[in-house]
Amino acid sequence: MPPLIRFAFALPWAVGAAAALAAPDWSRIPAREITVFHPGATSVEWLASGHPGASVLKSGQPCIVCHETKTGLDYNAKRLAPREPDVQAMPRTVSFPVSVQAALDKGTLSVRLAFKPPADAPLGRDAAHELKAALMLLDDQVPQAAQAGCWATCHQDLRGMPGGDPKKGKYVGAGRFELLQWTSGKPAAQPAGVQVASTQEGGRTVVTFSRKLGGAAVAGRSVPFGIAIHANHAAGRLHYVSLGYRLALGDGVAGEVQALGR
Ligand code: HEC
Repeated sequence: MPPLIRFAFALPWAVGAAAALAAPDWSRIPAREITVFHPGATSVEWLASGHPGASVLKSGQPCIVCHETKTGLDYNAKRLAPREPDVQAMPRTVSFPVSVQAALDKGTLSVRLAFKPPADAPLGRDAAHELKAALMLLDDQVPQAAQAGCWATCHQDLRGMPGGDPKKGKYVGAGRFELLQWTSGKPAAQPAGVQVASTQEGGRTVVTFSRKLGGAAVAGRSVPFGIAIHANHAAGRLHYVSLGYRLALGDGVAGEVQALGR
């Protein structure tokens, strides 16, 4: 760091500004790479019955036991094709990695996503936002939340699904989910206590969600979550999504992404 800048941080007003931003030191926090992929019109109903993983899901295992391998995600857009009724919607880049980090600091959870959205995604219908990134957290009451993550909210009868109801948005059979979303255009409405920020870093978009602990995000909990990214003005179901993962809120809690701290 050049000496002038170090001096500037020592000035009282600059210290105040830095404290207000109080971001975790992300360079010290390990990142988990999570691949997001085009899911087609795959519903939780298909996952729980038509899909070869159905009985294993029912027995309590998560998606990643089968779909994450040592060499990456076992996902195949050709196999997905029967569940993508809109051939035009199928992107050329069917998947890409998102680097995920999390931290707890004085009762605030921060989750940071860093990714390079594919430039060849088909142009979508959301004129207001070129890019959107979302984090979904689910509580313990949501059926199959721990196995399926955000897929628990994606039903056959939703708008955008074949034969779906244009008035129906994501829903769960019981319990609650929380959707934190960053949008590149006018900011999206957030649940109470949620803050969202974004920057560009070395060609990657970096989005950070911060939330006071509460709701699904309780200290000591292994929180089922999923990620969704809408690239190139995509709308509705035409997003890239992750499988179900767990966010561990605290030391010794099980999860693929660890939020250490207090
Ligand atoms: C028991 C192992 C297993 C589990 C658990 C599992 N799957 Fe699968 N999944 C499969 C197999 C096998 C296929 C089909 C591969 C084929 O058609 O050759 C498949 C196919 C798919 C497909 C179609 C695309 C493709 O690559 O074939 C999607 C999407 C999918 N699974 C999502 C999920 C999600 C989401 C979960 C968790 C909610 C999940 N799976 C859990 C084994 C599993």
